Amino acid sequence: MLQLYWKNATDKIVGPAHGVTRADLDGIEPAIRAAHNTVVESCRSGRLGYSALPGNTQYVADVNELVNKHRSATTDLVVLGIGGSALGNLAIQSALNPVTYNLLTDKKRKGPRLFVLDNVDPALVGDTLKFLGRRLKTTLINVISKSGETAETASQFMIFREALRKKLGADFAKHIIATTDTEKGTLHEIAKADGYDMLAVPGDVGGRFSVLSPVGLFSAGMCGIDIEALLAGAGAMKQRVEECGADWRSNPACVLTAIKHLMFTEKNKPMHVMMPYSNRLYLMADWYRQLWAESLGKRVDRQGNEVFTGPTPIKALGTTDQHSQVQLYREGPNDKLTIFLDVAKHPGKVRVPDVFEDVPGLTYLRKTQLAKILVAEKRATEYAMAKSERPTVTIQFNSITPQSVGEFIYLYEFTTSLAGELLNINAYDQPAVELGKKATFALLGREGYEDLAKEMKSFTRVDSRYLA
Ligand code: PA5
Repeated sequence: MLQLYWKNATDKIVGPAHGVTRADLDGIEPAIRAAHNTVVESCRSGRLGYSALPGNTQYVADVNELVNKHRSATTDLVVLGIGGSALGNLAIQSALNPVTYNLLTDKKRKGPRLFVLDNVDPALVGDTLKFLGRRLKTTLINVISKSGETAETASQFMIFREALRKKLGADFAKHIIATTDTEKGTLHEIAKADGYDMLAVPGDVGGRFSVLSPVGLFSAGMCGIDIEALLAGAGAMKQRVEECGADWRSNPACVLTAIKHLMFTEKNKPMHVMMPYSNRLYLMADWYRQLWAESLGKRVDRQGNEVFTGPTPIKALGTTDQHSQVQLYREGPNDKLTIFLDVAKHPGKVRVPDVFEDVPGLTYLRKTQLAKILVAEKRATEYAMAKSERPTVTIQFNSITPQSVGEFIYLYEFTTSLAGELLNINAYDQPAVELGKKATFALLGREGYEDLAKEMKSFTRVDSRYLA
């Protein structure tokens, strides 16, 4: 079971200017309880679509049907998507399969190689196409787009569709699965016309909350990850965070929200770092960055007042970033809350050999498990941060399993909902992303965007007086 340890974010450890005090927690209790009631009520009344995903057996059946149909004949699975249609896939795959997964032989891998292409970088797409080469014949494309019109995903899709069509002729459609809106949209229409297998992006779930829907489940299932266990973990966390009895401090989502909110509003900590001490969990921090940034970074509150709010999520990796970021985290501005992700039992077991017995500076490392070094480094950093009055919280994984990853995902989704309530903003829209999308359409000459293209002309023209 995932656990939260928050003593190092309290005044007892980092002092009252930087840590939460009992009075802070007593003060925020009514707001936390009110936010919790609202969010639970929204979950129970069906207004928060993501909360129903752990119990959605239909989606599991749909995904399993297509996994069973395609897995054995597929050597390579290419996911085309971006943002909420890619980050969860990457996070789950890297958490639950070996770092070397794509390099393993067909016999050793539990499914096809997985490539998640979440950018229109020609090097990324071109190199992948080159690598696939003749194996396009055994490649499956999973194009994921809720709107079906995101420029990055749409252009990649057009490239891969054409490559498949050239290689396979009329059979190309059997190599594409479209995960999109079930009723409407450009991708939906093309998929119907071409005859692809389809999976649903639930209409009532925003991209960044969709990882536990077919959006994230299909690639996971194809790569041998136990999606039922993933959802069971999410379901267990859902039950846990929906309970908020006499002691709200035993509810991890309520405590995490309270600390994050107090740090942001009262303790001058607008930066929220997530620092896993695990390479496997590093991309979970990427997933968290999107969830936190798009959900909470808002110009207006629910009443339309300008608030320009939202903590900035940052990702770091332990121990790697101890040698890159921790200098700043300890001696730079005291404006960060760090959330460590810690793992009690790591997936790998590697021990330092019994060598260099006569080299005094290295003997302490002899015969030591790398996991023990990692744990010591995390504790040492936690201690060093505390000594500089820098608050930290630890989310403790017993081990990295589909169950615990599911728990983590749901914990953060629910916490984001609570945090949105406390900030009094809409955590489920992303209006600021739209202008960039529209401006891209205008620059690329899409019909209907001519006025915007004109308006942008003076802006995009390079003014040579400012070239240095
Ligand atoms: O969270 C979100 O809503 C976004 O990150 C979207 O997932 C992203 O923009 C991709 O959109 P779509 O799935 O419509 O292609």
